[in-house]
Amino acid sequence: MEKKVKRIGVLTSGGDAPGMNAAVRAVVRTANTKGLECVGIRRGWSGLISSDFVVLTGESVGHILTRGGTILYTARSDEFMTEAGQQKAVATCKMLGLDAIIAIGGDGTFRGALDLSRLGVPVVGVPATIDNDVGCTNYTIGFDSACNTAVECIDKLRDTMQSHERCSVVEVMGRNAGFLALYVGISVGATAVLIPEHKLDFQKDVVEVIQNSRLAGNTHFMVVVAEGVGSALDIGRRIKETIGIDPRVTVLGHIQRGGSPTARDRETATRMGYHAVVALAEGRGNTIIATQEGSIVEIPIEDALKMKKHLQMDRYKIMEAMQLGISSCR
Ligand code: F6P
Repeated sequence: MEKKVKRIGVLTSGGDAPGMNAAVRAVVRTANTKGLECVGIRRGWSGLISSDFVVLTGESVGHILTRGGTILYTARSDEFMTEAGQQKAVATCKMLGLDAIIAIGGDGTFRGALDLSRLGVPVVGVPATIDNDVGCTNYTIGFDSACNTAVECIDKLRDTMQSHERCSVVEVMGRNAGFLALYVGISVGATAVLIPEHKLDFQKDVVEVIQNSRLAGNTHFMVVVAEGVGSALDIGRRIKETIGIDPRVTVLGHIQRGGSPTARDRETATRMGYHAVVALAEGRGNTIIATQEGSIVEIPIEDALKMKKHLQMDRYKIMEAMQLGISSCR
């Protein structure tokens, strides 16, 4: 980076995730220790276009560590995808004297970060999305909290399904990835887990596992569907047509994005926010702060955006083993 950083803008963009506030707090507090000023940009990239900002101090980020959502608000900006929008954002950076931006969000946020960095504004990205689908990092802030929220909801559903001897079909978020569904499915002991990374064979993956479970003496069933597979309503309808049971369908939806972050998310967000500021203070911009094998690493944004993350299919096998192992060896 050519210029020494004195003033940093921090923003949250894309879908909110529990732990975003913890990351904002870590950025501001770390910046204080390095003698850097922090300006919060509200409503993501659109706030940078319209110069929607708030000065952040060590005190103003007090008591946000435990809060879900984002105090900076968030948005998805179409205008920022245009050259004209990006030029307005550069003008805002000049006007506010921002030497660099820390952008907290997912892949969409980082594509914006790359565009801005090409126009001369150094950016550091901090991965936060409940989907855990950012290629360069093992972990994204918010994933653990969303998993725990979904597990808590599904445990409750199980109580009523068990009492009524019913089948529940639950749709969880995750966009095009099955991380959330698979981790949640394993954690709730689902009868079946449908994820986009595994081509659905309805007979084998749904009908047979429900029948096996029934043969093993179960009278209620839990089918977890990743939204990337399709609608849980359709899966419910097919179960009714094929097996003749009448499932209850629940779409967990945005409830998975809310709530106080778990310890894992608070701690990871604090570490990532800290390292984002350290990188800028030491003259390194245009990187994503990632976790790899438990350590924090910095990856150039351009490379990071090309990286693909594959769901560990050994976890899918483990889930299948829990289905198959339901009946004892004879
Ligand atoms: O990326 C986070 C996420 O919650 C996805 O899981 C989901 O597909 C999407 O955002 C929903 O977006 P919106 O809040 O715009 O409905």
